[in-house]
This record gives sequence, structure tokens and C-alpha cells, in this order.
Amino acid sequence: MTLSTILLASDHAGVDLKTALVNALEERKLEPIDLGTHDHQSVDYPDMADKLAHELISGKAPRGLLICGTGIGIGIAANRHPGVRAATCHDVTTARLARAHNDANVLCLGARVTGVQVALDCLDAFLETDFAGGRHQRRVDKLGAI
Ligand code: RB5
Repeated sequence: MTLSTILLASDHAGVDLKTALVNALEERKLEPIDLGTHDHQSVDYPDMADKLAHELISGKAPRGLLICGTGIGIGIAANRHPGVRAATCHDVTTARLARAHNDANVLCLGARVTGVQVALDCLDAFLETDFAGGRHQRRVDKLGAI
């Protein structure tokens, strides 16, 4: 499991943005693992979140990216899995702080509310920012204990 490997999944609303981000990750010589969905046929976002969460928890990759229409439903679903800390982000600052303060391991984006360039900037910030630790570690530990 290396940091360059990243899991991706989306529902039908997020599939085009997911494809754009998979391509961008490949251009950066990273290793995206695309878990679907692969077309515009309607699928349920909890199923896609479930799929990615299981792969993440089993150790296939340290980080994941989930996309639905708003990034909200798929994030709620992902956070039902112990060990997943999914953050729905709309800009670089939320993506950076989701890593630095919350040690988020899944970034959630909304394809109907976030454009491709902002999504890519969020993804870069999410992948490049380390967890700050310190007082934040205590808080993240409490998340795990809930
Ligand atoms: C699907 O139409 C839409 O509800 C879903 O992508 C998402 O936005 C839910 O949170």
C-alpha cells in the first residue's frame, strides 16, 4: 500500500468528474483504482461508498475519493464505516484542513456543485497535506472511540 495509490468511486451523478480526476491522477503518475460506476445509469450512492470503504479498510489504499451530486450522501454513507473519516469539501481550504486537522482518509466531492478545476485543486491539497498531529491527534482518537 503506497500513498500514490488512491481509490475512487462515484454514483451516476459523479461519473464524469471521476473520469476527469482519474485522468489527472494518471497524468501525475499516481495510481488511481477506479471502483466505478462507469456509466450514467442510476446507481445508489450508499452502495458506491460501501464498496470504497471496504477496499480502504482492507488496506488496498490509504486514501479514497468519493463523488456524488453534492458529495453529501456519499460522505454520510462512508462515515458509517469505522476507520473511515470522510470529508465533504468545496474548496482547497476545506480539503487541506480535512487532512491537517481531521486526518481525513476519504475526500468527498459534489459534481453538481464543484467544477473540475476546483475539484482537482481539492484533490491535490488532499493528497499533498500531512496530518498535523498534536492536539488534533487527541481529537481524532476520540472520533475513533465513538
Ligand atoms: C443522485 O441524484 C443524488 O441524489 C446523489 O448523487 C447525491 O447528490 C446525494 O447526496
